[in-house]
Amino acid sequence: MAKYVREIGHDAYGYDTSPTAMNIAEKYSIKKAINFSEFDVYILCVSTHKPGDLFSPQIDGLLSVVEKLSTEAKNGALLSIESTIPKGTSKKAFEMLHHRLHVVHAPHRWYAAEEKQHGINQPRVIGGVCDCCIKAGMQFYGGATYRSSSDNNNDKMSLGIPMHPVTEIEIAEITKVIENAHRYLQIAFAEELYLYCQANNINFPELRDALNTKWNVNILEPREGIGGHCLPKDTKMFLQSSKSVRSKILLAATEVDKDYRGYRQTRAQTDTGHLI
Ligand SMILES: NC(=O)c1ccc[n+]([C@@H]2O[C@H](COP(=O)([O-])OP(=O)(O)OC[C@H]3O[C@@H](n4cnc5c(N)ncnc54)[C@H](O)[C@@H]3O)[C@@H](O)[C@H]2O)c1
Repeated sequence: MAKYVREIGHDAYGYDTSPTAMNIAEKYSIKKAINFSEFDVYILCVSTHKPGDLFSPQIDGLLSVVEKLSTEAKNGALLSIESTIPKGTSKKAFEMLHHRLHVVHAPHRWYAAEEKQHGINQPRVIGGVCDCCIKAGMQFYGGATYRSSSDNNNDKMSLGIPMHPVTEIEIAEITKVIENAHRYLQIAFAEELYLYCQANNINFPELRDALNTKWNVNILEPREGIGGHCLPKDTKMFLQSSKSVRSKILLAATEVDKDYRGYRQTRAQTDTGHLI
């Protein structure tokens, strides 16, 4: 994101608690932010999982950065939270800042393997806490030009990203977690079909190929279980977002993933570990 911001002609500075991450950023000419009062836009993209546990959501790190901004950031600047966050986090940040900054949530969408089609410049959802927040956010990401309310003399180029604004910031928050929960579900279904095939002596790859000849069927590959630092954590965020109605189908999907991993582990211990 910072690389893209630079490419279209803005200055981009970075801040990260990890010196390794900062070194990598500096290789792309992203300078280290020292004085936090200098910027028109702050894009927050810190990790939102527990340190040492990729699968569990935690926003303490993110809130510590908001805390820092609450005392150091420039009046009227824009704060865009791009990290994946639990419902209610944006408004919490907004309250911590006492509306000294505009707050939007524009969840990041990125698929490294297909950077051209699904990199920075693809349609994204955005929500703002107040009308003035979404207006500032839309101008920065998708408008013709961007003029920070803290810098009245200077029109700057917007990012030119096609944005889909929503009326409530919570909708932007849960859109991101639900799109990943949906992916989780699709993979869990593939895992379950795989286990079904193993139990019933059916060739899974052949069945999958046959199913996927239909235009509206897309059975995924189960691979090594649902991992990474997005799908399991974000599915948990979704499950934790409602006390009264909890998604039964997702709870079942997490059980399927457990069974599938258990199966793989047992197979790896009892034979060559080769799975079809
Ligand atoms: N990677 C993706 O493709 C992707 C896509 C969509 C959404 N997201 C979301 O974006 C967020 C970040 O993802 P990522 O892949 O970059 O994660 P990451 O863990 O690789 O990187 C996050 C960075 O945040 C830094 N950090 C953590 N706590 C900090 C703090 N308190 N102050 C400053 N820096 C801190 C870490 O050192 C790390 O360099 C997550 O919420 C993730 O779910 C990621």
